[in-house]
Amino acid sequence: MARRAGRVVLGVTGSIAAYKSPEIVRALVKAGREVRCALTPSAARFVTPLVLATLSRHAVAQDVHDPALWEMAHLSWAGWADAVLVAPATADFLARLAQGRAEGLLDALILAARCPVAVCPAMDLEMWSHRATQANVRRLREYGYEIWGPERGELASGKIGVGRLLEPERIAERLGALLGRKR
Ligand SMILES: Cc1cc2nc3c(=O)[nH]c(=O)nc-3n(C[C@H](O)[C@H](O)[C@H](O)COP(=O)(O)O)c2cc1C
Repeated sequence: MARRAGRVVLGVTGSIAAYKSPEIVRALVKAGREVRCALTPSAARFVTPLVLATLSRHAVAQDVHDPALWEMAHLSWAGWADAVLVAPATADFLARLAQGRAEGLLDALILAARCPVAVCPAMDLEMWSHRATQANVRRLREYGYEIWGPERGELASGKIGVGRLLEPERIAERLGALLGRKR
């Protein structure tokens, strides 16, 4: 039987690195994945939903209470996905995920998902190295989430350090290995 190409929900949160999310969508689509994008309200300040909808060839979900999402995207997309990828993931999003919060659409979707979930943090080096963030990351690993990166390099602030989002091509490659694995 032919292996399924893979259905991916790409969650985008409000990091400056969200400008790279269209490249992530392109790399995933090029690899044959079906992609649906879920944005936090903050992410939509950094990247337009129109770009992500056009590249993913699917409507973008943003608001958990959007009446147009009558099928409850936070549940139906969670069931549809073979994997959920959050790239970039903010410090605040890591904290919310570690607490199991469900106020926003992406947060609720991940709480409802039973497929593999990979999270790619991106933030300034002090935010990343803070004990609170590191404790959140440890908790997320305990819950079975994959944490990919961040890597060391030049950050948006101009500083050099750990906090940079993995490159879109590398994220797409790692997702290929993750697809099909059960949580
Ligand atoms: C220009 C700018 C860049 C930001 N970049 C980051 C970032 O890279 N990582 C991060 O954790 N927060 C960053 N923030 C802060 C987040 O946008 C803020 O914490 C927001 O509430 C995150 O919302 P979300 O996690 O729901 O998407 C940035 C804020 C601004 C104004």
